[in-house]
Amino acid sequence: MKLTVVGGGSTYTPELVDGFARLRDTLPIEELVLVDPAAERLELVGGLARRIFARQGHPGRIVTTADLDAGVADADAVLLQLRVGGQAARERDETWPLECGCVGQETTGAGGLAKALRTVPVVLDIAERVRRTNPDAWIIDFTNPVGIVTRALLKAGHKAIGLCNVAIGLQRKFANLLGVTPAEVHLDHVGLNHLTWETGVRLGGPAGEDVLAKLLTDHGGTIAADLRLPRPLLDRLGVVPSYYLRYFYAHDEVVRELRTKPSRAAEVARMERELLRMYADPALDEKPALLAERGGAYYSEAAVDLAASLLGGSGSTYQVVNTYNHGTLPFLPADAVIEVQASVSGEGAAPLPVPSVDPLYAGLMANVTAYEDLALDAALRGGRNRVFRALLAHPLIGQYEYADALTDKLIAHNREHLAWA
Ligand code: G6P
Ligand code: MN
Repeated sequence: MKLTVVGGGSTYTPELVDGFARLRDTLPIEELVLVDPAAERLELVGGLARRIFARQGHPGRIVTTADLDAGVADADAVLLQLRVGGQAARERDETWPLECGCVGQETTGAGGLAKALRTVPVVLDIAERVRRTNPDAWIIDFTNPVGIVTRALLKAGHKAIGLCNVAIGLQRKFANLLGVTPAEVHLDHVGLNHLTWETGVRLGGPAGEDVLAKLLTDHGGTIAADLRLPRPLLDRLGVVPSYYLRYFYAHDEVVRELRTKPSRAAEVARMERELLRMYADPALDEKPALLAERGGAYYSEAAVDLAASLLGGSGSTYQVVNTYNHGTLPFLPADAVIEVQASVSGEGAAPLPVPSVDPLYAGLMANVTAYEDLALDAALRGGRNRVFRALLAHPLIGQYEYADALTDKLIAHNREHLAWA
């Protein structure tokens, strides 16, 4: 089996490689190709990747290259984990929306739109090249904003699935609190990428006993503290929102907080410099503890599981993925991309049926789906008015004065990445 990671020079790669090494029985990789245009960084990351494989006795070969076409040839799956504009662009996304009193975040709100506009054309170009060289390869997209990017890929007819670690993180957390293994915990997970709710926590599988109410009674305090939301709110909702819902349910509080501290991008940039310094040490042959301070915990487990199921191996039957709605959530368009439990096989992902969704969540999902639709239109066709329409549609923006001001800021800060601007 051959796997290719586009954006392989990312400091996250050792997390993936560590998972590939530990879980080699689930996903037997013969060749891992790391593709990245940043040669120096790729060599540092590639070197550590080889040492991780060697330390864990993994027989697979690790190849590093800047040549995308060569890198994806014969790959069974291509993982996309790139960041157009790097942490510098992210830092801007997290900063200028605050000037309008709006949340500045990597994937949520105006910053997320900026990221979508920079990213969609680049990812589509890469996917097109993958299809030309290797039409059978699965494309697994980690690249944010995953919902919009996956929708762009599917709309262009690519064999693609979007992946995020929020669900697997909560599965691990709940398993821990309940004193069971992660495999025993099945989440009723519903929503859009970075806009999800756990409406049930079942033991043993999709038909298992729902212990969510008990989980909230016994451990609501811990869960609320993790999400940085008040426990009484969780008790009133009776479901567990993802931590991205804090940007909605506590928007103004988050804005006040973000205004007083350095951006997450600045923090991550500092960590990345330190990580790269560590990766350069030839004695290092495992992922450093510092990597756990990034948001990507369990990415590798999720990726191994998904790739294993798609490629006919022994991945879990049910996995949370991003794919076409196709009637699963009847209140959303068929071509919306949703994040739900799906049964995954060599044929792809088929969402499990979802019981009717409380309007409290369905309304926000529908609103953000409409935003994502307009965001994709802006990313594909460009133009100030399309950017404005997406921002006006966003539930965290909504007023024309803000939408206008944010449109100008978005364009001014991203001109070099926007072909039409
Ligand atoms: C989680 C999210 C990712 C996001 C990451 C940010 O893993 O699911 O989509 O990119 O957090 O983590 P960072 O360490 O870059 O802030
Ligand atoms: Mn994510």
